[in-house]
Amino acid sequence: MKKKAAVAFVSAEAAPFSQTGGLGDVVPALAEAFVNEGVSVTVFLPFYRKNAGLKTARLPISFCVDESITSEKTLFSALNRNGVEYIFVKSPGIFTDGEYGDCNGAYADNCCRFSLFCRSVAGYLIECGRSFDIIHCHDWQTGLLPALLKRHRFSAKTVFTIHNLAYQGEFDDNFIAYTGLRKDDFAVENHCSVNFMRAALKAADKITTVSPTYAREILESGNGCGMEDLLRSRGDCFCGILNGIDVSEWNPESDSFIPYSYSLSDFSGKSQNKAFFMEENGLKNPQRPLFVMISRLARQKGIEALYGENGAVERLLTQFDLNLAVIGTGDPETEQKIKDLSERYENFSGTVAFSSRLSHLAEAAGDFFLMPSLYEPCGLNQLYSLRYGTIPLVTATGGLADTVCTDTDLSVRTGIRIPGNSADDIVAAVADALRLYADGPAAVDAVRRNGMSRDFSWRASCIEYLNFYNS
Ligand code: GLC
Repeated sequence: MKKKAAVAFVSAEAAPFSQTGGLGDVVPALAEAFVNEGVSVTVFLPFYRKNAGLKTARLPISFCVDESITSEKTLFSALNRNGVEYIFVKSPGIFTDGEYGDCNGAYADNCCRFSLFCRSVAGYLIECGRSFDIIHCHDWQTGLLPALLKRHRFSAKTVFTIHNLAYQGEFDDNFIAYTGLRKDDFAVENHCSVNFMRAALKAADKITTVSPTYAREILESGNGCGMEDLLRSRGDCFCGILNGIDVSEWNPESDSFIPYSYSLSDFSGKSQNKAFFMEENGLKNPQRPLFVMISRLARQKGIEALYGENGAVERLLTQFDLNLAVIGTGDPETEQKIKDLSERYENFSGTVAFSSRLSHLAEAAGDFFLMPSLYEPCGLNQLYSLRYGTIPLVTATGGLADTVCTDTDLSVRTGIRIPGNSADDIVAAVADALRLYADGPAAVDAVRRNGMSRDFSWRASCIEYLNFYNS
């Protein structure tokens, strides 16, 4: 790619402006990594009501996208953060408080909301007179854009990244009029519902997902959420590129959320963080190993095996001498279960919240991190865990398989394998972890050190993206 290439990212989330999960971490971190490689990056985001306090500069462009969605004109405004330009798409009647929903579930008008988002960005790109080399769209909310740009014979190439194929943005085909596209932009064989993801997988020039193993898995029959044929038909235009992490934000040597900093050469601060976290969360007995879990409470994350009938969590709390701390939000039944367990077990602490401070602190405090995902496109928490010397227990799927070495040879081992998706499998893996813990500090520290020495910074992934753009 020539010097100072210009890339536009399009996403429904980017921290600190909006975030529900990993997507919100990845978009700004990858954008900043590109900037460090000499690429200029503009990120397009919806302007949600919670962004009202931001100081942005109004851009001299506005238009009404579609009266049938809203008679409100879309406005655009911009700010710069860490070398990245953010352009917000403003339509206050449409982009209300939450990204996709509230405590009553997904918003009923998500098809209209994200149609408006994609059509507004398309309108901006076509009208604004700026040139971009690549339009890089992230996840289903941006899925109409490659197809809209193709319809307008827009010159820039489009790339679409799948962060999670299970969420596709599928709506009744009565909504087609709102999308600005035609039926054949969505249709494959007999499906003719509006499906944002499918439109992107058909129209984007290139497709990526967030780890090589997930890329292979979703091509297998029965594993691609109905998209395996379409993905297979894209051949070499589809590949998996592993996510990195923001190694300056996630750095136990300088993390402002943790009271005791530590490093690969001296991790004595880790046990002090453990004591601090335990005290704050009402846990006793610091000799016990501390297991932590931070996740969306969703099926993908193994909540059935953990909290369902005869679930692993209760068995762990009663059968083993350990402490377990859980942080997360999501499925309301699971949230309730976590609150109940907190009342009943002195060795369990459950926090139903999405909190950066607590996540950083738990990563610094934990001995082990439990991540029994059914599938995992990449996963970020196992990477944060490795960096913080918190040994991850993971299933061998997607990005977990690509980033955690569960070989039992202590010279290479960075984690522990959960052999399957059942409660028994989770219990067996925890028993393995306890055996390692009982082997003593030398064994545990060797595994910690291996993990902490791995490099998961964005640079390598960023170069791979740039090569793929150019291939
Ligand atoms: C989604 C995936 C997760 C991935 C993240 C960022 O949240 O579930 O595995 O790490 O996107 O790409």
